[in-house]
Amino acid sequence: MPKIQSPVNMKKIVVLSGAGISAESGIKTFRDAHGLWEGHDITEVASPEGFAKNPELVLNFYNLRRRQLLEVQPNLAHQLLADLEQYYPINIITQNVDDLHERAGNKNVLHLHGELLKARSSKNENYVVEWHSDINMNNLCPDGYLMRPHIVWFGEAVPEFDRAADLISQADIVIVIGTSMQVYPAAGLIQYATKAENIFYIDPKPAYIHHTTISVETIAEKATTGMEKLFKRLISSI
Ligand code: OAD
Repeated sequence: MPKIQSPVNMKKIVVLSGAGISAESGIKTFRDAHGLWEGHDITEVASPEGFAKNPELVLNFYNLRRRQLLEVQPNLAHQLLADLEQYYPINIITQNVDDLHERAGNKNVLHLHGELLKARSSKNENYVVEWHSDINMNNLCPDGYLMRPHIVWFGEAVPEFDRAADLISQADIVIVIGTSMQVYPAAGLIQYATKAENIFYIDPKPAYIHHTTISVETIAEKATTGMEKLFKRLISSI
């Protein structure tokens, strides 16, 4: 005999998250005052040229980030996005290299800029392994090349872009959260949201987002309080 199915909202939510969603977990953003790029030269620590010039400096930069990541926890904003999966099909496209969305419980997370808890061969980008400790100068891939963080650096291709564009093109609701929308091609993804009925943008210092067909509703709050408000709205509209 057929069973009664629990109600499922078929509207698809796609989330585009950035460093701001992890700020309240204690991870620094990049471009805020005292952010990561204030104390570091991007070309030194986040480019293939910087790695070729001084690999140890680059490895140490990411070793510190990785150590810190292992000490922090997802915050309420991550948690509410995970809870929302009980009500809506959700895909997260994150620019973040942390694993806080996964730890909160979201199942479909696409990392546009790579993952801190993975390492790859500096020669063969397809040799990627889980890596939760420091990467040191004596950590070599089976072919004898230095391992490096599995991070997309400036000047490198963004291999997951097409998949992300495809996901956001199917979204009925888009939530942009905690990103300055300064870095392309990630920031350009919003233009692929051609089917979306609503685009929400949670950020205490929101950037201007132009979308060709619909206006973006800005919630100028921190990720946690902004997500609390949006969560209630999205649940009450089911
Ligand atoms: P940014 O540092 O550029 O922007 C962080 C955003 O988070 C800003 O708009 C802040 O206003 C906002 N923010 C700060 N605190 C917040 C809070 N508590 N709640 C919500 N939002 C808050 O970081 P991204 O936009 O993620 O790339 O940067 C994009 C890319 O640039 C990163 O993925 C990284 C970086 O260079 C690579 O390393 C390849």
